[in-house]
Amino acid sequence: MAWKGVERGGDGQPVWSGASAVAGATAELQGGVQAEHAQAQARQAGEVILDLQHISLSFGGVKALTDISFDVREHEIRAIIGPNGAGKSSMLNVINGVYHPQQGRIVFRGEERRKMHPTDAARQGIARTFQNIALFKGMTVLDNIMTGRNTRFRSGLLANALWWGPARNEEMRHRQKVEEVIDFLEIQAIRKTPVGRLPYGLQKRVELARALAAEPSMLLLDEPMAGMNVEEKQDMCRFILDVNHQFGTTIVLIEHDMGVVMDISDRVVVLDYGKKIGDGTPEAVKANPDVIRAYLGAGH
Ligand SMILES: Nc1ncnc2c1ncn2[C@@H]1O[C@H](COP(=O)(O)OP(=O)(O)OP(=O)(O)O)[C@@H](O)[C@H]1O
Ligand SMILES: [Mg+2]
Repeated sequence: MAWKGVERGGDGQPVWSGASAVAGATAELQGGVQAEHAQAQARQAGEVILDLQHISLSFGGVKALTDISFDVREHEIRAIIGPNGAGKSSMLNVINGVYHPQQGRIVFRGEERRKMHPTDAARQGIARTFQNIALFKGMTVLDNIMTGRNTRFRSGLLANALWWGPARNEEMRHRQKVEEVIDFLEIQAIRKTPVGRLPYGLQKRVELARALAAEPSMLLLDEPMAGMNVEEKQDMCRFILDVNHQFGTTIVLIEHDMGVVMDISDRVVVLDYGKKIGDGTPEAVKANPDVIRAYLGAGH
């Protein structure tokens, strides 16, 4: 698969930021949003909230991740990049408690995690979107987003069934929160539409809405812009930055469009064949010879 946003310049070196269709298409993303983002980050220098130490994960004979260590700071946008099969989605699945690494430690908000389940991750404020959209296609946008509130339901089954007393108040609170998310992501017009009828780009936005409905403090996004056209990508970039700025949500982002990654992330970790080959600011990663080699292929 070709790397979007990375081309070889006249001097044989890769050209990154600005080569992306998204970044190149809007002066706003290149200038305004970037500057605004830098400002927001200066205000919100965060502590390490997730520390992954020497993580190794294999499936039978396949080593998906080998001895990977990196951390995530509160309020930052942390990108994970790397070629197909590098182990990016596996890493998100480890953070989310879907996969349990054979080796390594995971410390989240000061506590070491042992055999955590995805529902525990949700309860701890971690929400995610998937590489392949995971929504109920026959259900409306509104109902899909409502499922994002599941981990927050408190009233018992009986009270909910009778829609009685506290359950009723709770339902109202959930509905209100969902409406806020719908307004925030500007999807009022499609709130009653079955998800399966929506174009792909909008389905991705609905999936983000479902994740946001859980009011996460950490959001894991697995290729939120894959398969989108330029305009849809611009919108998605804008929403990701808005979520980060307005709610202070920490974001771990897997994305193949390098222009986007270089523009909106604070730090980038680079995986290749299940190993970490780079980690740092976009500038540092761009200059890393191992990363350049992985991107442009051997011989460059
Ligand atoms: N559940 C699984 N069972 C067996 N092998 C798996 C499983 N999940 C991932 N793998 C393998 O682990 C390796 C890393 O896969 P992963 O999906 O994490 O890569 P990725 O970087 O997300 O790739 P892509 O860019 O294509 O999404 C691959 O070799 C993949 O085949
Ligand atoms: Mg993947």
